[in-house]
Amino acid sequence: MTPTQALGRAFRSVEPTGGFVPVTVEGALPDGLAGTLWRNGPGLFELFGRPYRHWFDADGAITALRIADGRAQVASAVVECPKLAEERAAGRPLYASGQTRTAWWRMVGGRGKAVRNINVLRWQGETFALAEGGLPIPIDEHLGSGAPRALVPDQPSFHAHSRVDPKSGALYGFGIEYGRVCHLSVYRLEPGGGARIARMPLPGPRVLVHDIAFAGDAVIVMVHPLDIRVVPLMLGLRSPLESLVWRPEQGTEVFVVPLAAPEATRRFTIPAFYSFHFGNAFADGDAYVVDLCRMPRLDLDAEFSLASMRRGEVPDMPPSRFTRVTLRGESAEVEELVGGERDFPVADARLAGRRHRYTWIIEDDAGINRLARFDHETGACVRAALGDGIHCGEVSVAPRGEAEDDVWIMAQVHDFEADRVGAVVLDGADPTRPPLARLWYPHHVPPALHGCFAPRG
Ligand SMILES: [Fe+2]
Repeated sequence: MTPTQALGRAFRSVEPTGGFVPVTVEGALPDGLAGTLWRNGPGLFELFGRPYRHWFDADGAITALRIADGRAQVASAVVECPKLAEERAAGRPLYASGQTRTAWWRMVGGRGKAVRNINVLRWQGETFALAEGGLPIPIDEHLGSGAPRALVPDQPSFHAHSRVDPKSGALYGFGIEYGRVCHLSVYRLEPGGGARIARMPLPGPRVLVHDIAFAGDAVIVMVHPLDIRVVPLMLGLRSPLESLVWRPEQGTEVFVVPLAAPEATRRFTIPAFYSFHFGNAFADGDAYVVDLCRMPRLDLDAEFSLASMRRGEVPDMPPSRFTRVTLRGESAEVEELVGGERDFPVADARLAGRRHRYTWIIEDDAGINRLARFDHETGACVRAALGDGIHCGEVSVAPRGEAEDDVWIMAQVHDFEADRVGAVVLDGADPTRPPLARLWYPHHVPPALHGCFAPRG
C-alpha cells in the first residue's frame, strides 16, 4: 500500500461520538494551554446509500478538542443544516450539493444544499459552522446544530473565511448576493453589533470568492475569473461545480476597501490567477503586501473527486505556490516565496495587518500534507518533525508569551500508517523538535479543512 492509498482510508465518514470522550495523550500537554481546538470539514460522505461525488460536497463534521489541566476530551458531530434535516425526515437524499446531482427538477434555479463544512467561527462566546454560502449555523456546547442565523441585519450570506483586527477586536467577513448582477458585501462585526460596510457589484456570475485579507487599515478582496454558466445551472442541467468556467482573459478583480472610508473602495484588474487562501497582509508605504497561495488556474470540477481521493490517487492539480503579492497603484508585483506545493498559510493573529516574520504553511509532499514554518526574514522553510507517517492539517496558533515564536502550534493529524486521527501540540519556537504532545482520538474523523483555537476563559 502506498502512503496515499493508506491516507485514502481516512476519507470515510465521521463517527459521531454522542458527547465528549477521553483522548490518549502521548507526551505532556503544556500547563498553560487551555481551550478548545475546533475543526470543520467534509465529514458525511454518503447519505442513504448515495455517495457524494466531490470532497467538498459532503455534509460537515465538526470536532471540538477540549484541553485543560493537562488532559483532553474530544467530540465530533455532523453539522445538521435544515436541508439535511429534510433529507433525514424523507429517508432519502433530496438535494444537489457541489458536484453531486439529484433529480433535475430539484436543481432548477440552482437550488442545492449549502453544506456547512468549511470553517468554524467563534464570535462573542458562540460557535458557528460556515460554508461557501448561506448563513452561519450555531453549534451548541454539545455540538448540536441550531437554525441558520444572520450575524448582522439584512445579511443574505456569510462566507467561511473572516479576519479579526487584533487592535479593535472587529471581525471582517463577506457574503455574496446572487442575482442578475451579483454583489459582494463586506461586513464588520463588533462586540456591540455589526453592519455592512461595503457592497460591490461583481464583474460577472463570479461567486467562488473564498477568503478575505486584512491589511491593517483596509480589507482586500480578490475576485478571480471563475464564472458560473448560469443557464444550465438554472435549468437544472448541471450541478454548481459542473457549471464553473475559467475566464483568464478577464483577469482577477481586486477590491481595496479602506476601513476609515469604505465608500472610497478602489477596484482594479490584475493578471488572472486563483487563490483559495490568504496569509497575513499589511500596508507598506503606499502599497499593500498580501501573502497568499497562488494557482495559475482552477478546475474544481476535475479536482478532489472523492472516489479518486479514496483510491489514494495524487491529484493532478495546477501548482499552488506561496506567493507575496504587492499591490501598488493598480498593479501587482508577484514574488514566489518558496518552491513546492503550498496552501493553508497561517500567521500569528496578533500580528494581523502588521509585518510579521513567520507563516505556518502546509506543504504537499506527493499527496501527503506536511507542516512547515516559513521565515520571511531569512527565506528559510523548515519542516516540522511530525514523522513520515503523519498527514497534517492547517494549524492554529495559541500564544504562550509575547514573542511571535513564543506560541503553541496545534493541528489535527492523521497517522495514515496506523489509520488513526488525533492532534499535535508543537513548540512554535522550534518546530524541528518532536511535538510536546500527541493526542489520539478513539473515533474516526476525516481530514478537516479549517477551524480555530478558542482559549478558555
Ligand atoms: Fe478555505
